[in-house]
Amino acid sequence: MVETAHRNDGVEGVAGGVGTTALLVAAARAIETHRSDSLAQDVYAEHFVLGAPVSKDWPVHPREVPDGDENPLWGRFARYFGLRTRVLDDFLLRSVHAGNARQVVLLGAGLDSRAYRLAWPPGCVVFEIDREEVLAFKHHVLGGLSATPKAARVPVPMDLRADWAGALPGAGFDPAAPSVWLVEGLLFYLPPAAETYLIDTVDRLSAGGSALAFEVKLDKDLLEYRDSPLYTATKQQIGIDLLDLFDRNPRPDSAGHLTAKGWSASVRTPFDFTRLHGRGPRPERNDALAGNRWVFAGKPLR
Ligand SMILES: C[S@@+](CC[C@H](N)C(=O)[O-])C[C@H]1O[C@@H](n2cnc3c(N)ncnc32)[C@H](O)[C@@H]1O
Repeated sequence: MVETAHRNDGVEGVAGGVGTTALLVAAARAIETHRSDSLAQDVYAEHFVLGAPVSKDWPVHPREVPDGDENPLWGRFARYFGLRTRVLDDFLLRSVHAGNARQVVLLGAGLDSRAYRLAWPPGCVVFEIDREEVLAFKHHVLGGLSATPKAARVPVPMDLRADWAGALPGAGFDPAAPSVWLVEGLLFYLPPAAETYLIDTVDRLSAGGSALAFEVKLDKDLLEYRDSPLYTATKQQIGIDLLDLFDRNPRPDSAGHLTAKGWSASVRTPFDFTRLHGRGPRPERNDALAGNRWVFAGKPLR
C-alpha cells in the first residue's frame, strides 16, 4: 500500500467518487444564490466550490456559465438543485415551527449549510451524517469563514451503508422526542438494502409527530437516459459520471414501506414545485429528471 501524507482538511473526501457530488450541488446553490430570481440563498456554497482543487474552476455565478440557462448542467440541472433547496428549506422550517420537533437530522448532509442559514427556533439541534472526510472538509471551510451556526450542530461521521442506528442516540439524539429528517440527493447512491435499513431506522428512531422528506428516482432502468443532456453535460463539463455513481439495482418502494408502517406520505414531482414557484426545470424529452420524486412523510401522534 502506498502511504500518503495525511490531511485533516477533508479535501480528499470531496475529491472523487460520490463526495464530488456534494460539490456539484454546492456549485448549483452558489449559482442560484446569485440569480436575480433566486429561489434560495446560500452564501457559503461558493466557498466550498472554490476551496476544493477539483472544483475551483467551476462556475459559482450565472455570469460564469457558458451558454447561461441553455447549459444543461449549470442552467437546467442547477435550477433543479435551486428549486430542491428551496422546497426542502420550506419543509424543514414548516416542520419545526408547526410542531414540537427540535431535532433535525440531515442524512447524507454533504455541504448542506442549513444549520448556518435557516432561522431555527430556540433549542434546535441539527445532526449531520455523512462520510468523515466530507464533514471534515465542510468544517475546514466553514471554520475559515468563522461561520456561526443558528442551531446546535452535531456532525456524526458515518458510512450510511453500515449499521448507523446507534450513532445518533450516541451523539445525543433522543428517540422519545419528535424529530425532522431530510434525505436529499442520497438514496440513489445506496444499495437497496441500505435504503431499506435507513427507512426502517428513521421509523424506529421517530416518535409520533416526526416528519421526513426524501428524494427517490422511480426509473426502472436509469440507463434509459444515458444520452440525456443532463448526464452527458455533467460528464463532459466536470467529469462526473452520475450513472456510474448511482446504485442501479432495483429500488425498494420506500414511500409504500412507510405507509405500511402507519406514516402518511405524499409523493410529488419537482415539476409540481416549478409550477408553484413559477420557476425551475420543466419536463423535456429524454429527461433524466423524469423519475425524480420528492416524498413528504409524517408519523402520526399516537
Ligand atoms: C449529491 S450529495 C447531496 C448532499 C446534500 N444532501 C445536498 O443536497 O447538498 C450526496 C451526499 O451523500 C453522501 N453519501 C453518499 N453515500 C454515502 C454513504 N454511504 N454514507 C454517507 N454519506 C454518503 C456523499 O458523501 C455526499 O455528501
